Amino acid sequence: MQSDLRTKLMQALSKANGTFISGQEIAEYIGCSRTAVWKHIEDLRGEGYMVEAVRKKGYRIVSAPEKVSESEIQFGLETKALGKMIHYQESVESTQKIAHQLANEGAEEGALVIAEEQVSGKGRLMRSWHSPKFSGIWMSLILRPKIPLHQAPQLTLLAAVAVAQAIEDVTELQPQIKWPNDLLINRKKVTGILTEMQAESDRIHSVIIGIGMNINQQKEDFPEDLQEKASSLSIESGVKISRAKVIQRVLLRLEDLYTLYLQEGFMPIKLLWESYAISLGQILKASTVNDTIVGKALGITDAGVLLLEDDQGTIHSIYSADIEIQ
Ligand code: BTN
Repeated sequence: MQSDLRTKLMQALSKANGTFISGQEIAEYIGCSRTAVWKHIEDLRGEGYMVEAVRKKGYRIVSAPEKVSESEIQFGLETKALGKMIHYQESVESTQKIAHQLANEGAEEGALVIAEEQVSGKGRLMRSWHSPKFSGIWMSLILRPKIPLHQAPQLTLLAAVAVAQAIEDVTELQPQIKWPNDLLINRKKVTGILTEMQAESDRIHSVIIGIGMNINQQKEDFPEDLQEKASSLSIESGVKISRAKVIQRVLLRLEDLYTLYLQEGFMPIKLLWESYAISLGQILKASTVNDTIVGKALGITDAGVLLLEDDQGTIHSIYSADIEIQ
């Protein structure tokens, strides 16, 4: 976990927006000595930042390294709460696992766990999630919503909308959502979301939203069995994408939608989700643990449950399933 000092240093340098800020000003802002500022600037350089230092002018960031550590994310981050506390590690088993631990230890709402690589990334339905180093976004966000337990799945749909909006902000691509929360571009999966919860009776302690985004992988970087089903933003757009920029937009969109949700409820989120939905009106095959149901997707309920109508006219409520568009 980084220190408050580092967070404040990045805030001061971000505010200067590429212009010089004096060592004295930074020292006053973060409440430390000028020598301590200098030491932290040296640490930043050690992490790959190019920081220009000019006598009587101060410091300015010339360029940031291509990593997704705390500093890269916080340099230019516009959120109020989400991502203000970041736990970064180069390699982890799964960011979900760490987020659960931090949530248990009382981490505040908006705390983010992020890694360059996951060696045991978790997908939905007990699957694994391929998370190679430096090419994607593997992160888990801790929320502490004061909502009834049964409404928690709505946050999964909210997260899918936020990611879709962020992809539109950063690229010219048009993502679509496959229920409940797979993000597709040209029918290939570019993002998966895994929402887990810590709760007791009807009280939610925390919701952990795990987001896995394929960003700069090329086709050959995917295992063979995924090459026809998965893609990355870089493959689809033909350009290299800044992962830090995508993370910043995801966090900002998430914060805006989450605020809207807490104020106005699920309806505005549902409408947005439907505007991105690829599967509504189509014939879907839903494979659940016990059953396979084929039917027309009628829509989602206010709890985020998928409604499928089979050819006998029976309507099935799907809570969790693997979905194939027929
Ligand atoms: C899916 O199966 O579609 C959901 C994939 C979720 C992957 C993300 S990557 C960050 C977080 N950590 C994990 O181990 N899984 C989620």
